[in-house]
Amino acid sequence: MAEDLQLSTGSKQEMYETLLPQIKALIEGEEDLVANMANITAALKEQFNWLWVGFYLVKKEELVLGPFQGPVACTRIKKGRGVCGASWQQAQTIIVPDVEKFPGHIACSSLSVSEIVVPVVRNNEVIGVLDADSEKKNWFDKTDQQYLEEIVASIVF
Ligand code: SME
Repeated sequence: MAEDLQLSTGSKQEMYETLLPQIKALIEGEEDLVANMANITAALKEQFNWLWVGFYLVKKEELVLGPFQGPVACTRIKKGRGVCGASWQQAQTIIVPDVEKFPGHIACSSLSVSEIVVPVVRNNEVIGVLDADSEKKNWFDKTDQQYLEEIVASIVF
């Protein structure tokens, strides 16, 4: 496919519906995890312009920063720490409407106010997480969860 993204100006659902097939086409047939994660974060950033979106990868019992778009971020997160470490530990998506109300939230950027973290699972094991941060409260909901889970499930590796 051409490497230009077609962006939507519609509802959140329409944005995901436009983006999803393009992401699938971008990563189809490519087995390199970093390349695919890099393109996924770029596509999400271009469409949604969140403050930060990126992956952390499980390496030696820690999450280590992977491909991302946005300001510089913390490099390592221990299991159970912050929203990312909690999502890893629970193997579940976590939506945080207000980071100030999430005990142990790790503030990589003081501008981040709400957050969603989706685990990346292979063979019933979490191998990383996708994290998106917004400057606005209550930014992420079940629609984001549904589509972001579909996006991470489409990564072939
Ligand atoms: N806020 C996250 C840390 C990662 S940054 O937001 C990029 C957390 O609490 O796990």
